[in-house]
Amino acid sequence: MDLSKVKAVVTGGASGLGEATVRRIVKSGGKVAIFDLNADRAKKLIDELGKESIIYIETDVTNGSQVEQSIDKAVEQLGGINLVVNCAGIGTPGKVLSKGTPIALDQFEKVIKVNLVGSFNVIRVAASAMQKNKPNEKGERGVIVSTASVAAYEGQIGQAAYSASKGGVVSMTLPIARELARDGIRVMAIAPGLMETPMVEGLPDSAIASLSAAVPFPQRLGKPDEFAQLVESIVTNPMLNGETIRLDGAIRMQPK
Ligand SMILES: NC(=O)c1ccc[n+]([C@@H]2O[C@H](COP(=O)([O-])OP(=O)(O)OC[C@H]3O[C@@H](n4cnc5c(N)ncnc54)[C@H](O)[C@@H]3O)[C@@H](O)[C@H]2O)c1
Repeated sequence: MDLSKVKAVVTGGASGLGEATVRRIVKSGGKVAIFDLNADRAKKLIDELGKESIIYIETDVTNGSQVEQSIDKAVEQLGGINLVVNCAGIGTPGKVLSKGTPIALDQFEKVIKVNLVGSFNVIRVAASAMQKNKPNEKGERGVIVSTASVAAYEGQIGQAAYSASKGGVVSMTLPIARELARDGIRVMAIAPGLMETPMVEGLPDSAIASLSAAVPFPQRLGKPDEFAQLVESIVTNPMLNGETIRLDGAIRMQPK
């Protein structure tokens, strides 16, 4: 598949890595439905890139029935979907104990719910829609790419929930790829290191400088379009399936 033929759902497409993916797909001639909660940012993007290629469907990825309705809308308005890129996510940190007091359980649950359950929720509904696609000349009906993180492997102090959520994304990629293989649907994940998005840009300059210095090469934060470029490689390379690819300049995160 190439990006010009893509009819994509990009969750979290109003910002950061999702936004870069939307930009790349639209520039290549594909069509996108953004599932996000940030209507203002999505509308700005649509004003900039044009209504012909992008629609915004306000969707909380954690909500089962909302995602079902939104996928139906996307299928109707784009004429089907053959790509999902799961980028919606939150990074709320929290130590297990803070001055001896345990973290509130719902803080842990919220991160798991958005990052892991939300990704699965969109996959389960999108896979059902993709199953109905006519296969292309390579037998493909669709591609699903989720966003993990290097924190799935080297979580830092305060990242128990985030690391667990991203570890879940890594772990579910192979069993879902195995199951959907019979339908010609490939399932991949990307584990970014430190990327230059609003999630990280809010940090002080000194923190960004020390984070950049920790990347062996190139010694800088990753650019959102480098994530989108990897999404494109995954879409166009039919042998990539059931795997998580690190995109991190060889960084290995330290305990803190
Ligand atoms: N930026 C990094 O360094 C980095 C590194 C590794 C992994 N990641 C992962 O990449 C993904 C994208 O991160 P980003 O840096 O672009 O973040 P971002 O904050 O710029 O974008 C995330 C988007 O997700 C949306 N969102 C949040 N909760 C949602 C929900 N319940 N339903 C629908 N949309 C929701 C937000 O509105 C936002 O537009 C996340 O999963 C993040 O964990 C980011």
